[in-house]
Amino acid sequence: MANGIYKPFWLDGESLVIIDQTKLPFSYETLKLVTPDQAIAAVKNMNVRGAGVIGNVGAFGVYLAALSTDKNSAGNLDKIKSIAQQIRIARPTAVNLTWAVDRVIRILENSYNSGRDLIETAKQEAIKICDEDVENSAKIGKFGCDRLQEISNAKSGKTVNILTHCNAGWLAIVDSGSALAPIYEAQARGMDIHVWVDETRPRNQGAFLTAWELQQAGIKHTIIADNTGGLLMQYGMVDMCIVGADRVTRRGDVINKIGTYLKALAARDNNVPFYVALPSSTFDFELIDGIKEVEIETRNPDEVLYMQGLNDQGTVTKIRIAPESSQAINYGFDITPNHLVTGLITENGICAANQTAIADLKPKTA
Ligand code: MRU
Repeated sequence: MANGIYKPFWLDGESLVIIDQTKLPFSYETLKLVTPDQAIAAVKNMNVRGAGVIGNVGAFGVYLAALSTDKNSAGNLDKIKSIAQQIRIARPTAVNLTWAVDRVIRILENSYNSGRDLIETAKQEAIKICDEDVENSAKIGKFGCDRLQEISNAKSGKTVNILTHCNAGWLAIVDSGSALAPIYEAQARGMDIHVWVDETRPRNQGAFLTAWELQQAGIKHTIIADNTGGLLMQYGMVDMCIVGADRVTRRGDVINKIGTYLKALAARDNNVPFYVALPSSTFDFELIDGIKEVEIETRNPDEVLYMQGLNDQGTVTKIRIAPESSQAINYGFDITPNHLVTGLITENGICAANQTAIADLKPKTA
């Protein structure tokens, strides 16, 4: 996990270096995380973001916690567990964060009983989670791309137009993302593809991050205002939607970036297939009803009231876009009910978004 080219973070000695995603696409900067508090702040402030990657940083945060408790002994489990509690609540909606932190803690509890070094054990488990994400995202890419191939064949090789929302590329899940993994695979297979990139207000992860990734990879794409997708679907200009997910309940309700639900509604009304790509770690088998049971993050209203971009002098500037006295509310995610989802693309294959099909998902050869 050490190259730092297709990964949004990497280990450097006893610290974790992250690409600061709040600075993209205008500048490429990194941040060094040495303490667990720095890891928590990086997740809260969205220097790192995306369900998979906040899980990875959470897991490495436990490693940093182990280092911080006592470098010269084998670590102190109780202190590590109390710091881990803070890490796992840094953001509430993506289940990958709690999943990854809890997984490292479980291993540490077993190691503690068998007298193993907690620091090294935490580090190795965090690396293992990361390596599994790399493998899973490659498989998601292959399974999802098979669907794109069917569309391409039906169109006699003409351009396949895919609409995506937010950022679900390698900045969000190592190594090639979830929703963007089939797109990267399609490019590798030489398919003619074009991506409609929802800008994804208020934080613009589509315009800032997805467009940056696609432009770096040389994939044809067009940024659209968030409300444009419905019209494009009515005009027959979208062949397939693929989005990522932050949490998927056991009956297949999908919690993803705010605005996903409206795209799913438009897709259903226009017979456009609507797929959700996710590694199995994004399933939350404890929950059934996405609307009633999932905590939706609300963030600072200033993210709605202000926008950031390059001014004419080439300087990154923040400007207010609403009257001084107006208030805003900033829900980060929404819920797409399972009946609007055509299929879930996972590392174990594609399944329908219902409880039986999800429970029956077993590893298949990609
Ligand atoms: O608030 P963010 O930028 O962390 O939200 C990210 C998303 O909603 C992604 O679509 C999601 O994490 C799926 S990709 C892992």
